[in-house]
Amino acid sequence: MEEKKFYITTPIYYPSDKLHIGHAYTTVAADSISRFKRMQGFDVMFLTGTDEHGQKIEDKAKSADMTPQGYVDNIVAGIKELWELMNISYDRFIRTTDDYHIKSIQNIFRTLHDKGEIYKGDYKGMYCKPCESFWTESQLKNGKCPDCEGEVYEASEQAYFFRLSKYADKLLKLYDDPEFLEPQSRLNEMRNFINQGLEDLCVSRTSFTWGVPVDFDDGHIVYVWVDALSNYITALGYANDKYDDFDRYWPADVHLMAKEIVRFHSIIWPALLMALGLPLPKKVFGHGWLLLDSGKMSKSKGNVVDPVVLCERYGVDAVRYYLMREIPFGHDGVFSNESLITRINSDLANDLGNLVSRTVSMIQKYFDGTLPAERQSGDFDDELISLCDALTKNVAECIDKMLLPNALAEIFKVVSRANKYIDETTPWILGRDDANRARLATVLYNLCEALRICAINLSPFMPDTSPKIFEAIGAGEEITMLDSAVFGKLPLDASVKTCGVLFPRIDIEKEMAELESAAGAPQIKIEHLPEMSYDDFMRGELRVCRVVTCDKVPKADKLLLFTLFDGERERTVVSGIAQWYKPEDLIGKKVAVVCNLAPAKIRGIVSEGMILSSDIGDDGARVILIDDDVPEGSRIR
Ligand code: MSP
Repeated sequence: MEEKKFYITTPIYYPSDKLHIGHAYTTVAADSISRFKRMQGFDVMFLTGTDEHGQKIEDKAKSADMTPQGYVDNIVAGIKELWELMNISYDRFIRTTDDYHIKSIQNIFRTLHDKGEIYKGDYKGMYCKPCESFWTESQLKNGKCPDCEGEVYEASEQAYFFRLSKYADKLLKLYDDPEFLEPQSRLNEMRNFINQGLEDLCVSRTSFTWGVPVDFDDGHIVYVWVDALSNYITALGYANDKYDDFDRYWPADVHLMAKEIVRFHSIIWPALLMALGLPLPKKVFGHGWLLLDSGKMSKSKGNVVDPVVLCERYGVDAVRYYLMREIPFGHDGVFSNESLITRINSDLANDLGNLVSRTVSMIQKYFDGTLPAERQSGDFDDELISLCDALTKNVAECIDKMLLPNALAEIFKVVSRANKYIDETTPWILGRDDANRARLATVLYNLCEALRICAINLSPFMPDTSPKIFEAIGAGEEITMLDSAVFGKLPLDASVKTCGVLFPRIDIEKEMAELESAAGAPQIKIEHLPEMSYDDFMRGELRVCRVVTCDKVPKADKLLLFTLFDGERERTVVSGIAQWYKPEDLIGKKVAVVCNLAPAKIRGIVSEGMILSSDIGDDGARVILIDDDVPEGSRIR
């Protein structure tokens, strides 16, 4: 019989910054599914990688004074380390700067051009820089980018277009397949988007150079989304000789991602595939967002949660468990340190950890660590056994439906049942009388079996924990596979081994206080400057000023334009803090200003002074705010 295959992908992430817990969320989900499918005997291809081209990366590298390649190499190395730390078992990692990928994109672009699917024309439109997307007026939301709600500006260039519009009907038909786009709630958005009128897509740029050059027309760079989406086939060897896996694995079984890029995957991507004459992916799954204080995580909001820190603090498996358990898959949910610790304490320390330690220590106490072979069944056994025997099927069904938290809930239902079974069978009372030896051995054996079957099903989610449980209950490798997840495979005379505390309980109040102080005080690298005299310092005229007006500087992402009242007159000051503050945050506030700084022209505006702020490294700048009762014009020294 031919081996069953399963091809799953994550988005390829932008190496513009370190990844955060939101990226880990998708990747852990893909990893858990991949591991489960491998256990089921599928030949799995799990692909992840990085999307390295585009203006955003080019700009980032420039501001870090690095080449784009040097910049991304550095971040990608960190991403690979993160996936290693988090036990991500990807089979292939693609970088869009890999030579073979670049060649494939050129081949794909040329093929589409030769087929007449791509043509050259003039592009006029509204461009959103962070999203690297052109929009028509009608697509804008209140004049802003419909994706990130950021500013857009008019741009025009000669460009290549993909005949996306001709695929509207075919795409609508594709959405009739209930398997294609999940959760189904995302379908309406796609249908509406198409029904509003699908236009041809601009698929080349001339405004920057960091990308895949169109090899038959100098100066044109392939649109990053065409470059990025095609990774799913180039990584298998489509249009290149690097790999030979395309026939084996394509079409993908699941493209996994969060909801904001579902549109690219369920409109542009299938249309490109149709144009190439290739089969379509079986499923595009758009899960929800991990939110922080009801805002989506992003570096620019300064509220990123670093998965490395979390894993170091709580352990990789605890973080993986929390991510997969806490939020219904497909919905948004709030990430908080508090809910993470609560989960660890209740599910992992209390329920699972205790079950293991109680079972093992009772076998040690009553039987010196090795169970006797005699048995006596009794009340409550059948219910536990039948729950265990049904577990693998239930978990598999949940995973097939992408209900990952439900799969874990099924496992923990058995864990809870087993804990209750201890209360019901009262082994500590059985242990008082030798006449109950056989019954006591049966109770403890049943607990070991429940643990073994739970650990098998848990292993895709918590790959480090399950082997510890197997070792503790004396389950050899041959009975840790999915097909051995049936009751009764553990030898009757199994020997247990003490294992350390699997999940130590965390003192939530203490922990929260520590986290807060750690979060409030980012690590700052201190570099001292040469000494200066008192007179030197006093030459700076620092005064308290009140912010009268504050506005964004058009076409300058980083600048805010202030009118400040300095106690005597209003002065104009430009400050590079727009990434960290909204204008309305600062109006009316009192700030410290260097008033005798030589005026400087910034973007054509004469700036008369500098607002003092503290530079807090990666997290940006914080303006020094002065108490409201300090009058404008007061000297600061
Ligand atoms: N490079 C594109 C994807 C191209 S795929 C052909 C991109 N990269 S990204 O770095 O911005 O990653 C976005 C993806 O990261 C989301 O779709 C999701 O999988 C994951 N997440 C990033 N932040 C997240 C949350 N706050 N919550 C959940 N998932 C998050 O888009």
